[in-house]
Amino acid sequence: MVTKKVEKAINEQIKREEHSSRLYLAMASWAEHNGYPGASDWLYAQTEEERIHMLKLVHYLNDRGGVVVFSQMDSVEQKCKNLVDLFLQVLKHEEFISASINALYDVCTKEKDFSSANYLQWYINEQIEEESTARGILDKIKLTGEHQGGLFLIDKELGAMAVTKRAALVASQAAANTAT
Ligand SMILES: [Fe+2]
Ligand SMILES: [Fe+2]
Repeated sequence: MVTKKVEKAINEQIKREEHSSRLYLAMASWAEHNGYPGASDWLYAQTEEERIHMLKLVHYLNDRGGVVVFSQMDSVEQKCKNLVDLFLQVLKHEEFISASINALYDVCTKEKDFSSANYLQWYINEQIEEESTARGILDKIKLTGEHQGGLFLIDKELGAMAVTKRAALVASQAAANTAT
């Protein structure tokens, strides 16, 4: 069993992961509309990844006898000036999610729910990777400035990164299915 406080905090994180998925969907659509097929593909893959993050928590809470609540989603307002601005928003969002995972971890330890705290370790590690990837992409885009040729190459690279990301998602889902 989980305590009511842990249940509530996990449900809040479920909502944030679901919102992340929608946010990246809006960003992917912006990139698609503005002629960045690679960035768009990477963001669509990111949408799928956030959905997996949400689902993992749904399964976990159910496994622990908690009640999952799907609350109303906030609307997604997508305002982007350019590709730098978009990836700056990606990084800021991932930093926000890292802080929220840390806060959730804190709730679990205060409630002496060490199983949940242990489970959240996966998310803590995942956030290191999420932030680092976003920062890496942002640095590259900043380097090119507004140079069209540079942006074209980065977009191509993001397309390749999307293929790798999708393969990793399929592999992690297969591993999760084997484990259950
Ligand atoms: Fe996430
Ligand atoms: Fe994320």
